[in-house]
Amino acid sequence: MKTIQVHTKTSSYPIYLTNGFDALVSSLQQAQLFNRKVCIISDDHVYHHYGEELCTLLSKAYQEVSTFTFIPGEASKNLQTIYSMYETFISHHLDRSSLIIALGGGVVGDMAGFAASTYMRGIPFVQIPTSLLAQVDSSVGGKVGVDFMGHKNIIGSFYQPEFVFINVETLRTLPQREFSAGMAEVIKHGAILDAGYLEYVKNHAAPLLSLDQELLQTIIATSCTLKASIVSQDEKESGLREILNFGHTIGHAIETLLDFHLVHGECVGIGMICESFISFKKGLISEDEFIDLQNIIKSYALPASLTELSGDDIYSQLFLDKKTRNHQIQFVLLQKIGKAVRSADISKHEILAAIDYIRISEKVCGGKANI
Ligand SMILES: NC(=O)c1ccc[n+]([C@@H]2O[C@H](COP(=O)([O-])OP(=O)(O)OC[C@H]3O[C@@H](n4cnc5c(N)ncnc54)[C@H](O)[C@@H]3O)[C@@H](O)[C@H]2O)c1
Ligand SMILES: [Zn+2]
Repeated sequence: MKTIQVHTKTSSYPIYLTNGFDALVSSLQQAQLFNRKVCIISDDHVYHHYGEELCTLLSKAYQEVSTFTFIPGEASKNLQTIYSMYETFISHHLDRSSLIIALGGGVVGDMAGFAASTYMRGIPFVQIPTSLLAQVDSSVGGKVGVDFMGHKNIIGSFYQPEFVFINVETLRTLPQREFSAGMAEVIKHGAILDAGYLEYVKNHAAPLLSLDQELLQTIIATSCTLKASIVSQDEKESGLREILNFGHTIGHAIETLLDFHLVHGECVGIGMICESFISFKKGLISEDEFIDLQNIIKSYALPASLTELSGDDIYSQLFLDKKTRNHQIQFVLLQKIGKAVRSADISKHEILAAIDYIRISEKVCGGKANI
């Protein structure tokens, strides 16, 4: 079992990376989390695959194991679902010493963490991420929350888990589309933090897409280490951590406008193309680097164009997102491959040109013709 330690100002906790659930109970005991009520939170898909196995395992070590499951997907990520979670907690008499276990993708982790952070002003929780996106990104760093009135993640808090337990084998049941969505965050980590890692990801698309377990362990460990290092320097996103939003300014706007017809990682992939297009047009990265990044995104079967929305729709939506400050939209650009820079100094014209690029790039062969 590999361990990556996350250090923040408020806590320090391990991410365990392993195959199977065998080491879960001993990890809970090592974290001194015994003799208490446990509630597993999951969605119906994930529970179907792993819920019973986990319940059986935990029932051997804990007297009372309850469960709460909900309909999979971003549309469930709201306060109504949190309300139902609280009802379950109360009906099972969970108290401050109880434990919440989040078993699932980023939607489960963000919501279970938010419920854990607010129920009785905070009870312990453990993340067991099962989607690639959750394993490489959302389970690390303590951002938890829900969507509200069409705003992504607008209600939330920072709340760190006791530990993160990654069973890489769970990726075998993850739908291909969701795997690709997770790769968008992996590509992001390389693009903003480590050019060598991006090159590695570029050169291993085929074995990664066929779930080579050793390569998966490598990218999950690398992405977790990169993200943990950013989070440890800026836990509450007062500066540096904002670079993790590369691709998310435009990505979130698309995600909201399409009413979640594209999943989060897919929107981030399109957002990264737009935001690296702006970086190229500003002379920060070269045309070849821009095209290369776009091709890496495409090589993981992620969508690279969008025809459903107009530039004006997306542009207006940007102002409704929390990534605006004093009416200025906050962007993350690539200063070079492997290094990101925050910028609010981007004109409407530059933004619309980037959106135009993804709106018409579908019709273009080779990608260069319309630049
Ligand atoms: N907290 C953060 O820092 C952070 C970072 C990035 C993204 N996010 C959030 O994460 C969410 C996206 O996460 P996601 O892509 O994991 O979405 P998700 O949780 O909806 O999972 C995607 C789909 O895959 C299914 N699934 C998950 N694991 C599976 C498995 N092993 N086998 C079979 N099916 C499985 C789920 O049931 C779901 O249908 C968004 O809400 C986003 O805002 C949060
Ligand atoms: Zn994301």
